[in-house]
Amino acid sequence: MYTIGEIRERYLEFFKARGHVVIPSASLVPENDPTTLFTGSGMQPLVPYLLGTPHPEGKRVTNSQRSFRAEDIDEVGDNRHTTFFEMLGNWSFGDYFKQEQLSWLFEFLTDKERGSGLDPHNLYVTVFAGDPETGVPRDEESVGIWRKLFSEKGIKAKYVELGSEEEGSKQGMQGGRIFSYDVKKNWWSRAGVPSKMPAGEPGGPDSEVFYDFGSSHDPKFGVECHPNCDCGRFLEIGNSVFMEYKKKEDGSFEKLIQRNVDFGGGLERITAAANNDPDIFHIDALAPLVDRVPNNLPVKTKRIVADHSRAMVFLMNDGVKPSNKGAGYVLRRLMRRAMMYEYLAGDSRLNFRSLLEKIINVYHGVYDISSETVLSVYNEEHSKFSSTVKNGLKEFEKLAKIGAISGKDAFILFSTYGLPYETTFEFAKDRNIEVNKEEFEKEMKKHQELSRTASAGAFKGGLADHSEKTTRLHTAHHLLLKALQLVLGNEVKQRGSNITSERLRMDFSYGGKMTDEQKQEVERIVQSKIDEDLPVIRSEVPRDEAEKLHAEHEFGQKYPDRVSVYSIGPKEATLEDPQFEKTFSIEFCGGPHVVHTGAIGRFKIMKEEAVAAGIRRIRAMVE
Ligand code: SER
Repeated sequence: MYTIGEIRERYLEFFKARGHVVIPSASLVPENDPTTLFTGSGMQPLVPYLLGTPHPEGKRVTNSQRSFRAEDIDEVGDNRHTTFFEMLGNWSFGDYFKQEQLSWLFEFLTDKERGSGLDPHNLYVTVFAGDPETGVPRDEESVGIWRKLFSEKGIKAKYVELGSEEEGSKQGMQGGRIFSYDVKKNWWSRAGVPSKMPAGEPGGPDSEVFYDFGSSHDPKFGVECHPNCDCGRFLEIGNSVFMEYKKKEDGSFEKLIQRNVDFGGGLERITAAANNDPDIFHIDALAPLVDRVPNNLPVKTKRIVADHSRAMVFLMNDGVKPSNKGAGYVLRRLMRRAMMYEYLAGDSRLNFRSLLEKIINVYHGVYDISSETVLSVYNEEHSKFSSTVKNGLKEFEKLAKIGAISGKDAFILFSTYGLPYETTFEFAKDRNIEVNKEEFEKEMKKHQELSRTASAGAFKGGLADHSEKTTRLHTAHHLLLKALQLVLGNEVKQRGSNITSERLRMDFSYGGKMTDEQKQEVERIVQSKIDEDLPVIRSEVPRDEAEKLHAEHEFGQKYPDRVSVYSIGPKEATLEDPQFEKTFSIEFCGGPHVVHTGAIGRFKIMKEEAVAAGIRRIRAMVE
């Protein structure tokens, strides 16, 4: 049985012996990169060196990078996905290329003494099929290298052209060993496929290695099995990116000034393969965590708790604090989901301290984990969550008593009461109550919950997500209207609006030019409401009720009988509630909006001018 410690050490030693300098893992929270929430691959902190800046340690470096992929949260629970993982990496900055990379990798993977000792008969590889759009050709060179490497082990490696995942699931293995796939599978850049890459971004064709666990194919995943099939037979264990292209302003591709290799291999996955055990949760870094989760929880839940606990320990140790935005929001979701399961476990409560001790132990000598920091952050969030969860559960019980929980209810339990939606569904299922998932998702989409898209989006590309910026501007727009009324008087009415990803524009009725003082005061009010991090709550009410609540609507607009209104806290506006006036802003609006105003950022008025008699126009931005 291999441990992650053994595989990590062997890998670093192997590449050290081949001229690589071992460099430390960077933090999970990227430095100097406001567009990305987490370090999700080994190459991320090394982008400048891939683009040509000389690396202080030379042209060959290697490491094990702690990584976190928020976009995989929903995948956790199967036998192979985790949010946190370590990525073994080796890089050539304009030094060696395909020949050395593939030969060394194959040697490391198959060597019993110095590598992970995998049986080469269980290895299958993929290469880039070529792409007419970018003009980057099929990677024939890698096909040739792989053929030779397999033949040296007495394996005749047949090459099969699949082209796409769809073709793979139709045509299957066909006795092949080397398979080609298109840009969706065998092109790597931080932003994904070439068309998604911004100008200046490096990328290139890649070659992936898969381990075959020999399990039988599950036709749920396609007629035929092939390396990129999700049925669980094949596990991707490593990816060699031949990073030699850069996207140009006009959308075409040019060669980078140097040819690079960016290899990334999943430490946990290689360890699972070395143990010939397809369940990644059986490795030494995860099994003891799964074992410490109370036994009355289902396997999937135990895996989720184990994964989330390990991820949160590493995030907290790298300085992330639970909050309502950015990285902190992702951490909060992980924590609250795991804590929710504690409630499910009932009396046989999860002992977080004991999980933490185990994690510190497994990583001893590799990562310094401060149990003091982790425990204090954990305890604080735990006590906050305990009170929220009580209210949420009370609300849940009310609904469960009636025996009906709509998708919208599930959404409100999530957005207003902070109850993790995954568990609302589970709880409901336990009571034989069906919740309409589609309706829930529709609500969720309407509300376009900012932090989540921000984290997934930022991870995927390391790039600013325009729709997210627009969402922030939408909410800022509501705050602005209210602030204008407070400063200029209640006669201010909205007369038009337009929002792009860059700025918002609002036309409003008002007699004169705004003074500088007035503009500053409006800015100050909006910013203070952002800083208060008020909840943004959507409800659907009859139009006349919304009118009674004095919800703002645009002059001359026609509205249906039932309307969607957005209230911006601290209280939701309802007719029953005599305190509804505490709502800062209430407007007829279809959204989307951020969930909490804190996600908006810094608000700034750019310009205020006249557009017609008695109508002013204001432009503002958020950053
Ligand atoms: N950057 C590539 C990946 O993340 C290889 O390191 O898969």
